[in-house]
Amino acid sequence: MEDHLLEVKENIHLSGRTWVLRLSAPALAEKVRGGHFLMIEVSKSYDPMGRRAFAVGDVRGDEILIFYDVVGRGTEIMSGWVRGDRIRAFGPLGKGLFSYEGDKHLLVGGGIGLAGLTLFGKELRNMGKEVVFAYGARSAEHLSMMDWLKEEGFSYIVFTDDGSAGRKGPVTEILRDFDSSWVVSACGPKAMMREVKRISERTGHKVYLSLEARMACGWGVCLGCVVRTRDRRYRRVCWEGPVFPAEEVLI
Ligand SMILES: Cc1cc2nc3c(=O)[nH]c(=O)nc-3n(C[C@H](O)[C@H](O)[C@H](O)COP(=O)(O)OP(=O)(O)OC[C@H]3O[C@@H](n4cnc5c(N)ncnc54)[C@H](O)[C@@H]3O)c2cc1C
Ligand code: FES
Repeated sequence: MEDHLLEVKENIHLSGRTWVLRLSAPALAEKVRGGHFLMIEVSKSYDPMGRRAFAVGDVRGDEILIFYDVVGRGTEIMSGWVRGDRIRAFGPLGKGLFSYEGDKHLLVGGGIGLAGLTLFGKELRNMGKEVVFAYGARSAEHLSMMDWLKEEGFSYIVFTDDGSAGRKGPVTEILRDFDSSWVVSACGPKAMMREVKRISERTGHKVYLSLEARMACGWGVCLGCVVRTRDRRYRRVCWEGPVFPAEEVLI
């Protein structure tokens, strides 16, 4: 991991509060894997303080894509970046990544959490594995990454809370439709992750969760991102994670 100076190639609003940032990043593009994330400097000043964590959503040649939701001051600043801007990003970060074991993979993404699975999905497909995405959002307007799924030609099943697109209800219901020979990897809001874990305890799926936590440093030093584990210890989401087998973490 190292600090990189990256050039903004494009920064586009997709829909709802979601944007996609295309960055020229030859050194990162070569080494980044599904599950990795970057700590991006959003401001040179102390307003806001600290970097922000983002999954690498895709690699295209020597460029990387970051899909992000505007939720606060840092991401608001990011949405103002234009072609030619130069930004700093530290990474790739994360030592605990997804599992490539098994031939059939169900990737369950809630909202912007889908961006934590997209690069992994491409890796699996390149390895000749069967991949199905389940993508859940509040409503049709918030399914901002649908075009990516279509362009990439993946099989996908969509869920919305209000039924305005796809199946009505929580995306976690998908676990009941796929037998336990499918390995499940999930990324999304905490409540969704808890539910995936809970359902899998009945269905018997092997589940890997890519967790989110407030991160100050991103490389194991501040201890601000810890999660409790079954063996009554703590693990740093940024360092031992961000991906953990569901049965190991208490969330
Ligand atoms: C490993 C990892 C990967 C991530 N990948 C992505 C991604 O690909 N795309 C994306 O849009 N977001 C991603 N996030 C979340 C992203 O880091 C936050 O949305 C971002 O830091 C918000 O910055 P802000 O200054 O705009 O918001 P702030 O002003 O800092 O906070 C605004 C709101 O967002 C919440 N929030 C802030 N940080 C987090 C966080 N880390 N987890 C959960 N809620 C948070 C706050 O509680 C608050 O309600 C990731 C987080 C982690 C830990
Ligand atoms: S964010 Fe500092 S230890 Fe994980």
